[in-house]
Amino acid sequence: MTGGAGYIGSHAVLALKQAGYEVVILDNLVYGHRDLVEKVLQVELVIGDISDRSLLDQLFTTYEFAAVMHFSAYAYVGESVTDPAKYYRNNVVGTLTLLEAMVAASIQKFVFSSTCATYGVPEIIPIPETHPQHPINPYGATKLMVERILADFDVAYNLKSVQFRYFNAAGADPSGLLGEDHHPETHLIPLVLLTALGKRENISIFGTDYPTPDGTCIRDYIHVSDLADAHVLGLEYLLADGDSEIFNLGNGNGFSVREVIAAAEDVTGLSIPVKECDRRPGDPPMLIGTSQKAINTLGWQPRYPGIKDIVAHAWQWHQQRHK
Ligand code: UFG
Repeated sequence: MTGGAGYIGSHAVLALKQAGYEVVILDNLVYGHRDLVEKVLQVELVIGDISDRSLLDQLFTTYEFAAVMHFSAYAYVGESVTDPAKYYRNNVVGTLTLLEAMVAASIQKFVFSSTCATYGVPEIIPIPETHPQHPINPYGATKLMVERILADFDVAYNLKSVQFRYFNAAGADPSGLLGEDHHPETHLIPLVLLTALGKRENISIFGTDYPTPDGTCIRDYIHVSDLADAHVLGLEYLLADGDSEIFNLGNGNGFSVREVIAAAEDVTGLSIPVKECDRRPGDPPMLIGTSQKAINTLGWQPRYPGIKDIVAHAWQWHQQRHK
């Protein structure tokens, strides 16, 4: 697994371990956490980069991998607008290197983290997988390029993939062992909770004039442990010789920035000061997806679809982390 020391990857490692799979992590630790792997996940960690072809070749001859799960990508939408080169190099060129090494080693099953950011501004809500894809930021464009590469690699090299288009990953493992720890942190829920903890003065609301009921952006928040479960099911689908497929992973419910802040006030019992700011570049007003396909095809069933559970699990993690 690439990126297993990161936020979503670490939760997937836990789910895979609980399902009885052996995992080897490849992570360059640019954003990943070594401690987490060594103390909590306790699986083998290879420190290195997906663009290091000789390292990949060596790994693929040392181990007999049944599949590769690929979580290592840069994922700051705002940064992708100001520094697109970084995103194209890692997310596209790096992934291409990984896929070429897989083909050379005859590893033919791949689980890929794509994103609802590939859709751009939706024409219909909730967004189905068949929705046109016109990303409005370079991050979304890099993920769409990999989706295209995967379609072509399937035809040419029989590389089968499950591609998950995540909506907004949030929350933390209910055990409190894992959680969201980005540096820098840019995501709404952790920033709101850090504000509740008094680590920040206020939470900025990026844009109050969007065409939504309260003027703030609406997102479909999905619990990271539910995402992790879907990856185990996606892997098992491929191991059972399933054909390449693309699945949305969301809850089909949208919450505005103001509603998320209200949910956090409710969960924490604290009042959270806000600051109304300009829009952030690259943000579509509303992203909500339908995940019926993953439910029907993979038997996926989200365990924590409510925003309060998502925020409560994140709160438990942040309280513990900042004790
Ligand atoms: N927001 C604020 N204030 C903040 C931070 C965020 O108002 O301090 C707003 C954003 O403008 C956005 C919403 O809260 O409207 C959610 O923002 P996040 O940064 O938490 O998440 P994004 O929707 O920008 O991005 C996430 C993932 C991406 C993924 C994308 C899909 O980080 O990897 O969802 O839209 F591609």
